[in-house]
Amino acid sequence: MSILSSRQNLLFSPPPPPPPTSLSFFILNTLLSALLFASAAAIPNHEASVLFSWLHSSPSIPSSLSDWNSLDSTPCKWTSITCSPQGFVTEINIQSVPLQIPFSLNLSSFHFLSKLVISYANITGTIPVDIGDCLSLKFFDLSSNSLVGTIPASIGRLQNLESLILNSNQLTGKIPVELCSCIRLKNLLLFDNRLGGYIPPEIGKLSSLEVLRAGGNKDIIGKVPDELGDCGNLTFLGLADTRISGSLPVSLGKLSRLKTLSIYTTMLSGEIPPDLGNCSELVNLFLYENSLSGSIPPEIGRLRMLEQMMLWQNSLIGAIPEEIGNCTKLEND
Ligand SMILES: *[C@@H]1O[C@H](CO)[C@@H](O)[C@H](O)[C@H]1NC(C)=O
Ligand SMILES: *[C@@H]1O[C@H](CO)[C@@H](O)[C@H](O)[C@H]1NC(C)=O
Ligand SMILES: *[C@@H]1O[C@H](CO)[C@@H](O)[C@H](O)[C@H]1NC(C)=O
Ligand SMILES: *[C@@H]1O[C@H](CO)[C@@H](O)[C@H](O)[C@H]1NC(C)=O
Ligand SMILES: *[C@@H]1O[C@H](CO)[C@@H](O)[C@H](O)[C@H]1NC(C)=O
Repeated sequence: MSILSSRQNLLFSPPPPPPPTSLSFFILNTLLSALLFASAAAIPNHEASVLFSWLHSSPSIPSSLSDWNSLDSTPCKWTSITCSPQGFVTEINIQSVPLQIPFSLNLSSFHFLSKLVISYANITGTIPVDIGDCLSLKFFDLSSNSLVGTIPASIGRLQNLESLILNSNQLTGKIPVELCSCIRLKNLLLFDNRLGGYIPPEIGKLSSLEVLRAGGNKDIIGKVPDELGDCGNLTFLGLADTRISGSLPVSLGKLSRLKTLSIYTTMLSGEIPPDLGNCSELVNLFLYENSLSGSIPPEIGRLRMLEQMMLWQNSLIGAIPEEIGNCTKLEND
C-alpha cells in the first residue's frame, strides 16, 4: 500500500484496493505487485501531469497536440516537447496552435527547461512570477498572444537567458530594470505592446545585446539612453512609434555593428549626430516623422552599406550633402 500511494499522482490515482482478508492476502499481494510492475511505465511523472492538465484546461484540444496522452509515463514523445537523456523536459515549443487558455503553466515544475516557446497561440493571462525559477532558460518566446499584465522583475534572475521575445501582446507597465541583469541577453523584443516608462540606462550593461526592439509602445517616454552606446554588438535598434524624445545620443556612433536604426514617428529633436557616420555597417536609417533639426551631416556619406535612408517630416534644413553620393547602395525611390 505504501508503495502504491507514494507512486500515486494528482491526476491518475488508481482506486484503493479492498482491504486484504487472510484468505486472499497472498493472491491479492501477488496481483498487486504484478499490476504495479506492469503499470509503472504508465504512471506519468510530474512534468507530464502538469503539461497534460494545463492543455486540458482548454475547451478544445488542438488536433496537433492530440498525442499528449495521459497514459504516457513521460511527456518526452509528445509533439512540441523535447527531453534531456535523463527524461526531463528541456524544450516546450508550441507555435501557431490556437490554445486560447491562460498561460498558467506551473513553471516551477520544470527545472531543466532551456527553451520555452508558446507563440501565435492566443494564450491569455499574465506571465507568472515563477518564471524566475526556470534558471536554465535560454530562449523564452511568448510573442503574438493575448497576454496582459507586467513583465515580471523575476526574469532578472535568469542568468542564462539569451532571447526574451514578448512582442505583440498587451503587456503594460515599464521595462523592468532587472532585465538588465540578464547579462547574456542577445535578443530583447518587446515591440507592439502597451509598455510605458523609460528605457532603463542600465541597459548599457547588456554587452551581448544584438537586437533591441521596443517600438510600438506608445507610452514609452524619455531619451534614448547614452548608455546604449556601450552595447557594442547591437545590430538592430528599434524604438519607432513611441514617445521617445530628446536628441539622438552621440554615443550611437560607437555602435560599429549597427545595421538598422529605426526611430521613426517619435518625438526626437535636435540634430542628427555626425558620429552616426562611424556606424560603418548601417544599412537602414529610419528617422522620419520626428522634430529633428539642423542639416544632414556630410558624415552620412561615409556609410557605404546604407541602402535605405528615410528622413521625411522633420525640421531639417539645407541641401542634401553631396557626400551622400558616396553611398552607392542607396536605393532610389
Ligand atoms: C507549482 O508546483 C510546485 C511543486 O512543483 C508547488 O510547490 C507549487 O505550489 C505549485 N504552484 C501552483 C501555483 O500550483
Ligand atoms: C483569440 O481569442 C479571442 C477570444 O479569447 C478571440 O476573439 C480571437 O479571435 C482569437 N484570435 C485568434 C487569432 O485565434
Ligand atoms: C560580440 O560578438 C562577437 C562576434 O559575434 C562575439 O565573439 C563576442 O563575444 C560578442 N561580445 C559580447 C560581449 O557578447
Ligand atoms: C567617430 O569617429 C570620429 C573620427 O574617427 C571620432 O573622433 C569620434 O570620437 C567617433 N565618435 C564616436 C561616438 O565614437
Ligand atoms: C565622397 O564624396 C565627396 C563629395 O562628393 C568626394 O569629394 C570624396 O572624394 C568622396 N570620398 C570618397 C572616399 O570617395
